[in-house]
Amino acid sequence: MKKKIGFVAALALFGLAILSTRYYMVDLPVWHLFGGGQGPDPVTLHLQGEFVESNLGAAEGPAGSLTVRMIAQQFVFVPQCIVVPAGVPITFRITSADAVHKLSFLGTNYGLEAVPGVVTDATFTFAKAGEFKIPCHEFCGAGHYAMRGHLKVVPRDQFANLLPGERRTCEPR
Ligand code: CUA
Repeated sequence: MKKKIGFVAALALFGLAILSTRYYMVDLPVWHLFGGGQGPDPVTLHLQGEFVESNLGAAEGPAGSLTVRMIAQQFVFVPQCIVVPAGVPITFRITSADAVHKLSFLGTNYGLEAVPGVVTDATFTFAKAGEFKIPCHEFCGAGHYAMRGHLKVVPRDQFANLLPGERRTCEPR
């Protein structure tokens, strides 16, 4: 009898673990039902609105402000490699196309949660030039441990000389 209870409990836990990585299929519809979620629709992220592909990566706003837009999805960040200038406040805006992810800048205290249907934003300043790995720090499914992006912080004048396409992503092409 005890064994059976253990088995059922293990099965239930396993089921919950799977469900927790299917946020957009389970939690999100429930949340929408209760009137939540004014953010971008995870399903059409790539097609319309703020997070279309041409709008991702670093972009200069009014008064020289800098915004980086990213999508987290199983199991990559888009863009996978972002380049920003050192010593400048940078506003990150991130959302998710599926499960909850967490982008963390290794070696700093900076982190950002990516939640489907929500835009999370935060402003960080990287004091010095350098390279940072940005692993996902929220279990998001089978590929979670391989999910990592890359951040390149370059001197301000070097960033100013980059072409618009090079600012959007530093992925090799
Ligand atoms: Cu994405 Cu873990």
